[in-house]
Amino acid sequence: MDHQTIKQTGRLLLMFFALSFLLSSCYKDNEEDLYPDGNNCVTENVSFSKTIQPVINNNCVSCHSGAGASAGIRLGNHSEIVASIDGGRFLGAIKHEQGFSAMPQGGNKLNSCAISQIEAWIAQGKLNN
Ligand code: HEC
Repeated sequence: MDHQTIKQTGRLLLMFFALSFLLSSCYKDNEEDLYPDGNNCVTENVSFSKTIQPVINNNCVSCHSGAGASAGIRLGNHSEIVASIDGGRFLGAIKHEQGFSAMPQGGNKLNSCAISQIEAWIAQGKLNN
């Protein structure tokens, strides 16, 4: 390779790295969505409306709402969710502990970040925030 070719290759490589850096920094915004089990699980000041309720809406409410709610357990709003947690069967069920019915029934276990966030939210006082 002559000098000119080396220079051009170097420039191309530099552009390639700059571009991949730019692209990866765009992705950073969504790290939590992309890697829910990673080290980026935020458990400080967990918001009920932004974090807890969407998880329960997406995974539980199809069976646990309305008059025909499974096991009579309703999880449609803050006070119903708090009542279920206070009833003492909620955490064991989502953590698939022995002696509990594993929830969501017939579905995948919630990811470990979601479970940590629920536990953190409980420890922070089960706020309707
Ligand atoms: C496909 C329907 C379905 C989904 C989805 C579902 N459940 Fe259930 N759940 C049931 C049924 C049916 C029962 C009662 C029978 C049993 O205990 O297996 C039950 C029981 C429970 C119990 C009592 C468990 C026990 O051991 O006493 C809790 C707490 C519960 N569900 C919470 C949840 C939560 C939280 C979610 C979401 C993460 C969820 N469920 C998703 C159908 C469902």
